[in-house]
Amino acid sequence: MTERVLLVSVEDRIATLTINRPAKLNALDREIKEEMKKAFEAVRADAAIDAVIVTGAGKAFAAGTDIGELTSLDAESGKAFASSGQALFDNVQHLGKPVIAAVNGYALGGGCELALACHIRIASEDAVFGQPEVALGIIPGYGGTQRLARIIGAGRAMEVILTGNQITAAEAFRIGLVNRVVPARELSDSARATARAILARGQLAVRMAIKAVNATMELPLSEGLKVEAGLFGECCRTADFREGTRAFIEKRKPRFTGLGNADR
Ligand code: COA
Repeated sequence: MTERVLLVSVEDRIATLTINRPAKLNALDREIKEEMKKAFEAVRADAAIDAVIVTGAGKAFAAGTDIGELTSLDAESGKAFASSGQALFDNVQHLGKPVIAAVNGYALGGGCELALACHIRIASEDAVFGQPEVALGIIPGYGGTQRLARIIGAGRAMEVILTGNQITAAEAFRIGLVNRVVPARELSDSARATARAILARGQLAVRMAIKAVNATMELPLSEGLKVEAGLFGECCRTADFREGTRAFIEKRKPRFTGLGNADR
């Protein structure tokens, strides 16, 4: 039996998805993208999972889309290829549960774009980022031109995308591309610790917060503020809200249930 290209494990309400094609530096071929789509759908539907970590096996997170699968694209199929990759990564950003990229090595092209679609990015010291598509005569097509500019600013994104240069983890941190950089041996623990810190909070509030912050990617401030107010109101309906505020006043730890109805 051939080795699975995407390994999925679940422990303590945290799912870990490991891209597993190390001989090709986890280049995202059709099979991996299909498996990833299924895995994220399963994670979304599974009430026993509250957070996700995405990482890669071996020395790469993902060294991009599989270049071998690009060569026969024409204008029409190229557009469809980009649209389907965008939809895959859009699902990650809008999963409704926190997704943490534990970037263990090369995160180039589609690999960098996958990390950008995650909500939090933690890099090992030897991680390498970049959008090298212009070296192939194309542009980032899985959301890179849009998310990179929104996350690090258009000026910095222009330099990353127009030069196609590789960026060290330290530089990625300096320009705001990653949340933090840790020694390689601490990467998994660091990602899990971050996931656990989120899991200790009210999960309904966490999900509302993801939605609200996601809105900054798409809406002008005035509209985003309306989204924030609406979601704030939604939170106020929840049992978690009653419990969280009561626990603070009673000087005890909250016992969140993730229940939506404050009357229960
Ligand atoms: N698509 C398909 N195969 C890829 C790949 C990709 N994006 N990235 C790496 N590979 C393959 C290589 O072809 C090689 O396969 P082989 O052993 O059968 O020849 C294997 O992975 C190892 O890569 P190699 O280039 O030998 O490793 P390296 O350590 O010398 O270089 C990189 C690492 C990441 C700098 C180099 O592989 C690279 O530039 N990859 C392409 C990055 C890119 O342009 N990504 C954007 C694609 S849109």
